[in-house]
Amino acid sequence: MRLLVHSGCFKKTKVNGQEEAYGLTAASTLLIKDKPYCLSPTVSVFVDPFFVAPYQSLSSWFKGAELTLWETVHGIKFWEFMNQNPGINQRFNEAMASDTEILTSFVVKAECKQIFEGLGSLVDVGGGNGSLSRIISEAFPGIKCTVLDLPHVVANLPEADNLKYIAGDMFQFIPPADAFLFKLVFHGLGDEDGLKILKKRRAAIASNGERGKVIIIDIVINAEEEEHELTETKFLFDIVMSVNATGKERTESEWAKLFFDACFSHYKITPIFGMRFLIEIYP
Ligand SMILES: C[S@@+](CC[C@H](N)C(=O)[O-])C[C@H]1O[C@@H](n2cnc3c(N)ncnc32)[C@H](O)[C@@H]1O
Repeated sequence: MRLLVHSGCFKKTKVNGQEEAYGLTAASTLLIKDKPYCLSPTVSVFVDPFFVAPYQSLSSWFKGAELTLWETVHGIKFWEFMNQNPGINQRFNEAMASDTEILTSFVVKAECKQIFEGLGSLVDVGGGNGSLSRIISEAFPGIKCTVLDLPHVVANLPEADNLKYIAGDMFQFIPPADAFLFKLVFHGLGDEDGLKILKKRRAAIASNGERGKVIIIDIVINAEEEEHELTETKFLFDIVMSVNATGKERTESEWAKLFFDACFSHYKITPIFGMRFLIEIYP
């Protein structure tokens, strides 16, 4: 308990003015199940042995031929592993949904709301179990939302009038729409794959009479110094992305290079909350 108090998980308090007790801090309040804004599913995935194991095999990875540490340890790619382990897949999707819940009030209710206004349709690419699209479809009944994700992620999910699911591979097919949303998808992709996806979206926007945009919710590494722990967390995610896949976290200039290389003409970055940013990209 002394360590946990020191690291900010609990705080020491007095009960009835004298008996010593431990209370929750802002951080540990986020771990209480069945309360709004609960990050417990995310934490439980991040500390699970299946997730942590790759970090203990750096030397085998250096000597081996696999592209990622993940493949060195688990023998298959990250998303294939999820496909083959339904229980873990479900927990991973719930973890992503808990991350979305915490962002929601910022994305659809506050200053970011105007981003979705006026849209007739939106495809949430790699949208997981659709938690963000469900919220958008409820907040904006005029937008037809489609969630595209791998078959094992979107199987048997309940649809609504303006919320549909498509099982597929984003490298093969993304249906046409006024806007394409990618939340925490690009940081899992290297530049080559990211560019492939963006170039196809640019072509789709062109064939729609230059009508449309791409919306990315992801991490941006700030060039200027910011709060030490925030930068450290972004760098840790950078490592996680290169351990699990061939992804990485990007600075604004690295993001901009991707957008301009895919022939988009301009973009706008809005900080949302913590390390998350909302990026709009225009033809
Ligand atoms: C980090 S998760 C983000 C999920 C969701 N956007 C969110 O933020 O809650 C990345 C998602 O991309 C999906 N994905 C990975 N490769 C894909 C592919 N080739 N085609 C479609 N979806 C894919 C995964 O199944 C996963 O749901």
